[in-house]
Amino acid sequence: MTDTKRVLSGMRPTGPLHLGNYHGALANWVKIQEQYDCFFFIADWHALTSDYEKPDKISGFVKNMILDWLSVGLSPEKSTLFVQSHIKEHAELFLILSMITPVSWLERNPTYKDQIVQLSNKDLSTFGFLGYPVLQAADIIIYKANGVPVGIDQVPHVEITREIARRFNYLYGNMFPEPQAILTETPKLLGTDRRKMSKSYDNAIYLSDTPEQISVNVSRMITDPQRARKDDPGNPEVCNVFDFHKLYSNSSTVEEINHQCRTAKIGCVDCKKIMAKNLAEALKPIREKRSFYESHPKLVEEIMQNGDDKARSIAKQTMEEVRFKVKI
Ligand code: TRP
Ligand code: SF4
Repeated sequence: MTDTKRVLSGMRPTGPLHLGNYHGALANWVKIQEQYDCFFFIADWHALTSDYEKPDKISGFVKNMILDWLSVGLSPEKSTLFVQSHIKEHAELFLILSMITPVSWLERNPTYKDQIVQLSNKDLSTFGFLGYPVLQAADIIIYKANGVPVGIDQVPHVEITREIARRFNYLYGNMFPEPQAILTETPKLLGTDRRKMSKSYDNAIYLSDTPEQISVNVSRMITDPQRARKDDPGNPEVCNVFDFHKLYSNSSTVEEINHQCRTAKIGCVDCKKIMAKNLAEALKPIREKRSFYESHPKLVEEIMQNGDDKARSIAKQTMEEVRFKVKI
């Protein structure tokens, strides 16, 4: 078993998970847990880097994220699921790595520059925010992970992790593998307003939404903007509702809609109703699993405790080695 590749990834608890998170990350995690020795964790310290002024919601988001994860089929038998701040060793390794990381690597990080501009409503001129990738590097290499499944936006962080691991190995002797980013293939799925699906745009459909909420949200979706009236032919290729159909309706329905839309035989209202029904149906097992775990809080606690314990014992071992290498 020792040559099974170890894979690790994390998510910041900044709100309930939506379909964008599911198709962009979670679905892939559920798949790869069959193949690799997987570690998935909730990066609550990383959430604090941008939400330090209002930290009161983070712990609630952590609890909710655990339910989201379990409900989509991340399995405690197959994967190690844990919470970052429960493993204090991450913080110790972060400190040591910070000694050897040149500030220039962090300042030229494209994600850093980008986020400062994007989140201009927050004061991110902190040491912690600049050091975000160093903490992320600690998260990854403390488990000697080989692969890190992430979206394209996180590739620079994995690259910095590789550089930090290489520098540590060079200075103190080989001990960390250089992890590879495993890029997640993401199907096209926009928010209800056709922008990127995001909690902050208020355009998301959540994994925990009820069929009623789904149908309201779907009815608000923007369709082919050129199609003003029902008897205008539409173009499914530019329609977000159609992208949802491709994911949630069977192929004969997709074909039918494709044809009926182009020939103005179906209106958007009916088309959306069909899609909302299929979407609600597809999310049903997820909702059911969620309600099972919601009514078994002790079990959830136990699952997370076990994950924490397993992660901690590996992190402790790594830190023994690290302290020996840095002679402290
Ligand atoms: N920065 C990641 C994100 O925002 C979350 C994260 C923290 C992470 N530590 C990690 C991802 C380690 C992969 C590996 O999505
Ligand atoms: Fe989109 Fe369906 Fe309307 Fe065509 S009929 S434009 S696919 S919502």
